[in-house]
Formats: sequence, C-alpha cells, structure tokens
Amino acid sequence: MTTPSDGRAAPVAAVEELKALLGPRGWLEGDDAAPFVADVFGHRRGPAALVVRPASTREVASVVTICRRHGVAIVPQGGNTGLCGGAVPVAGGAPCIVLSLARMNRIVSIDPLRFTVTAEAGCIVQTIQEAAAEVDRSFALDWGARGSAMLGGAISTNAGGINVLRFGNTREQVLGLEVVLPDGRIWNGLRALRKDSSGYDLKQLFIGAEGTLGIVTRAVMRLHPRAPREQTMFASVGDFGRLMELFALARSVGDAHLSAFELIPGRLIELALARHRRLVRPIETRAEWNVLVRFSGGDDIADLLERLFAEAFERGLLTDAALAGSLAQERNLWELRDEITPMRLMTGKMLKWDASLPIDCIVAFLTEAEARARAIHADLEVIAFGHVGDGNLHLSIWPDGTPGDPVFDRRCEHIVRAVDELVWAYGGSVSAEHGVGADQCARVRQQKPPIEFEMMAKIKALLDPDALLNPGKIFGPASAPARPAD
Ligand code: MLT
Ligand code: ZN
Repeated sequence: MTTPSDGRAAPVAAVEELKALLGPRGWLEGDDAAPFVADVFGHRRGPAALVVRPASTREVASVVTICRRHGVAIVPQGGNTGLCGGAVPVAGGAPCIVLSLARMNRIVSIDPLRFTVTAEAGCIVQTIQEAAAEVDRSFALDWGARGSAMLGGAISTNAGGINVLRFGNTREQVLGLEVVLPDGRIWNGLRALRKDSSGYDLKQLFIGAEGTLGIVTRAVMRLHPRAPREQTMFASVGDFGRLMELFALARSVGDAHLSAFELIPGRLIELALARHRRLVRPIETRAEWNVLVRFSGGDDIADLLERLFAEAFERGLLTDAALAGSLAQERNLWELRDEITPMRLMTGKMLKWDASLPIDCIVAFLTEAEARARAIHADLEVIAFGHVGDGNLHLSIWPDGTPGDPVFDRRCEHIVRAVDELVWAYGGSVSAEHGVGADQCARVRQQKPPIEFEMMAKIKALLDPDALLNPGKIFGPASAPARPAD
C-alpha cells in the first residue's frame, strides 16, 4: 500500500474526500487493504492510495466523480479471483484507488416466470446459483471459484467455466446492465428483454472490458430451466488421438442432455488426490487422459450414459469408467475437477495458455504445441486440461531451468511466441475465458489485426479520455491508449 504521502500517491484531498463520502465502513487502508492490492496467487501486486467499498451505485458514481476531479485512477475489483492480474493495480502505474464491489452483494430480484435474476455486481456467483435453484431454475455461470467470484467480475472478464457447452459463456447470459461511466454518470440499461433490435447493443461493450470503459454495478442475467437430474461419468480415454471422436459420440448419444465435457490429465489427478485427502479416486485405472462427461435431463440420462460407455468402450475410445451413483460421488467428481488447477498444485516457471480453438483442432494443436516447445527447450513438462467440449484448452508448459538465466528466459519467450503463433494459425485465441488483464496485453495485441485494436482504442478514448479506469489492463502499460488521430 502507498500512503497519501508517497510520491506516486493520490492527492491527500482526494483520499480525504473519499473517506468522508463513504464513512468508516466504506474504505480500507494499511494491512486491511493488503488482500485487495495483490492477485490471488500474489504474482501481481501494485500500490493503491485507498481501497474504497461503496455500498450503492450512487456511491460508486460519487467515487468516480471525486477521482476524476483529482486525476486519480480507479481499479474496479470483484472477488479478485481472476488469473490475469486484471483487478489489481499495476506496479509503477498512475496514482490509483481500488474500488471493491464486495458490499454491493444483493440479489435485487429473481423472476422465475421471466427466467431472469437481477443482482448487484458484488453478488457471489454461488449465491445466485442457490437463489436460482430455490425457484427451480439454473444459473449458467459456474467454475471452481464460484464461492468467491462476483457477478461484476464475471461480466467484466466474460468468464467461461464448465457450463459453456450447455448455456454459452457469460456474455450470452447478460440481458441488461447498469454501468457507472468514467465521467461519473449512471447508465441504466437494466432491460430484461430477449429481443431488442433498437440500435447498438451497448451492454456488449462493457462485457469483457475488464472495467476499462465503465464500472458494472448491476446486471439482469438469464436463468434456464433446471434439469431434474444430472449425472457424470468419469472415464479413462483409450486413444487420445480420437478424443474428439469420443466427444462427437457423447454429443450424438446425449444430444441436448450433454452438459459438460472436460479433459483431465492423470498427472493432475494424482497431484490433486495427494493434496486433498477428502477426494476419492474415481477409477482404479490410471490413464494419461481422462474425461468428465455430464448429462443433464430426466430419468433416462443414466441409461444414456451407460449406452455412451458401452459404445465408446466397444470402439476403443474409453478403457474404464465410473458413473456417479450418488450425490456424494457426483460431488467428488466435480470437486476433483475444481482442484486440478496446475497453478495451485505445481511450483516452478509456468508458461500458460487459455487457448480457444476450433474443437476439431484440439488434439493436433496440443501435439504440435508440445513439439514446438520441445524443439526450443527439450527439458519440459506439458500439461493440458479443460473445457474441450467448448474448444477451451488450458495448456501449461513447465520448462526446467533457472528463471533469470538469460538463455533460459529467452527460450521461454520463444516458446510463448511459437505456441501463440500456433494458436493463431489454427484461428484460435490466446484468451478464451480468463481475460487479458495486465498479463496478456502484448499477446492479445499481436493477435488482433491493427484495425481491430484501433477500434478498441477509439472506444476507450471516447468513453474514458483521461484513461482513469483500470489503467494498464487490456491496452498494456501505456494504458492511456494513444488518442486516435481525428
Ligand atoms: C479451470 O478451468 O480450472 C480454470 O480456468 C483455471 C485454470 O485454468 O487454471
Ligand atoms: Zn477454465
């Protein structure tokens, strides 16, 4: 934390005004503020003059107005569970405050007839899931950090997770938004319509914008019919080269009931089981590759899963499987899935891709990515997992060596470049669901044609001409995007 007397700190007057506006419950500093200025893994950390915790949209708007008057930047923050350093200040950046939405955590209304829920940005994803279940509806957003991730952060990063195959990602769930704009005005776009062809769909600008264009304060989200039953099969893959043949079979057998298809490497299962003693090994077969296949529907889904297993086994696509036969077994499988994040299980230098690919290219991509990486540095470990049913492969490469050694560092850079280029050659994206944050700016910039980046910069300059909102994110360190020439 900086204090108001630090060189790059916000003006004392701004800090005092903010404290007076919000009252004692509305701000934090010193040790209390420490968790808000570092990301979840402590990889990213930056100074902030103050952490503010407004309790209403009006207060958010007043904070923005004060900051704007004093030239103080604002880093909006939800649950701070992001993986790209998007919700914490950047070191060496402009004087800033962190604006936590945590106190704006209410469900405003839930309407089972309209299939909508309206909630504040600081509402925890799991809270909304549970509220939806109470009215016999499903809320689509779901991933491991459901118990701490917040709605505003999910919208601002266009988060994905395990339900994208069934419902689409966050963008597809948003019907309406309320946003505090960088000039302090409030845009109430809280419409709950499925159809609205009345011009530009402005809410789309703020979804995935990571708080660089405005601060999402409330949202109307879609709900879905709740499937009476869900059942998951954990299976060891017989032939990884035919993984997508297995997916195609799951699709044809399960039809609309197929609701998740996740790839899990044996290596991560062993690490997760060793770390978390409560987790139970699903099958005795220790295969290099496994899948979690979930069907959601009526009483027939168990039969359909049995049929899938029989056909897949017959064709050599699977070698072993277990069908969850109880709620406890179902829970165990998905808790195992939640715990396989390599960043939590492994140490050392990790190169990471949150790759989005055409689903038929996943296996070829992975094989080529490994070959490209090994050609640069032979001694490395490759781990891949994720939501392959929607084309999202989480790939990590762990080269053995000493960070700081110039040869090793250069090789790491070459691996990143070589694999990024492969992603692009397949028509993919280096950020499927984790966003850009401070970590991926340079890579995303190279991914997009200049005209696309120019349009983004023009929109940023139009809405936030003083570049006060979440500096250093998406556009990179020179966060004040060069004002486009007229
Ligand atoms: C996951 O699917 O588990 C997450 O996106 C986390 C990760 O990629 O590490
Ligand atoms: Zn994921």
